[in-house]
Amino acid sequence: MREQALQLLQWYDRHARAMPWRVPPEDRKNGVMPDPYGVWLSEVMLQQTTVAAVRDYWRKFTDIWPTVADLAAAEDAEVMAAWAGLGYYARARNLLKCARVVVTDHGGQFPRDHATLLTLPGVGPYTAAAVAAIAFDQPETVLDGNVERVMSRIHDVHTPLPAAKPELMALAQALTPVERPGDYAQAVMDLGATICTPKSPACGICPWRDPCRARMAGTASELPKKTPK
Ligand code: ADE
Repeated sequence: MREQALQLLQWYDRHARAMPWRVPPEDRKNGVMPDPYGVWLSEVMLQQTTVAAVRDYWRKFTDIWPTVADLAAAEDAEVMAAWAGLGYYARARNLLKCARVVVTDHGGQFPRDHATLLTLPGVGPYTAAAVAAIAFDQPETVLDGNVERVMSRIHDVHTPLPAAKPELMALAQALTPVERPGDYAQAVMDLGATICTPKSPACGICPWRDPCRARMAGTASELPKKTPK
């Protein structure tokens, strides 16, 4: 495996954050995989909401509706009520639409590949990649705000966002390993959330401190650049 991906996976083996929808790396190595429904639900909830806020909602939803078929059979008003407080209510409407499409068009099983996942309501490129990687170990590349920040720093990219997105995606794809892509996707996001933070990144304890060009150039906390609104 590429040395750089391996360094991150070794860090993740020791520092993976516990999340109720996540299967820890030691269990994934023994062949345990997460429920695709739970992964999809967590990724939709996490789109505009923090991990801390999502935890309780994710538990509530999976208690009330343990499978995608249960959710598909729910009343719209029940789901909207359970979602109350998470905001961005279009997500909840698409959530229910998507559950119904998975049941009616896919026999109640989430599709495994990025292209078919993209056809589902409310599933964009990020969510399709996250589900394919995390639930099915497909070598897809997730690019959320955390990963954009990490990539811009590793490669010292000064092109402002959003223009830099294609470049950052290409750099992120080049690093994505074919081994353990699900753990790798979660590892880059954890790195961005806990070490390679927007302000005062903890470069001294970063598993990627050696290859990081922004750390060498002293530009880490200025990146990524953003086009003023
Ligand atoms: N943010 C969104 N999805 C995430 C995940 N699967 N792991 C860590 N952070 C995330």
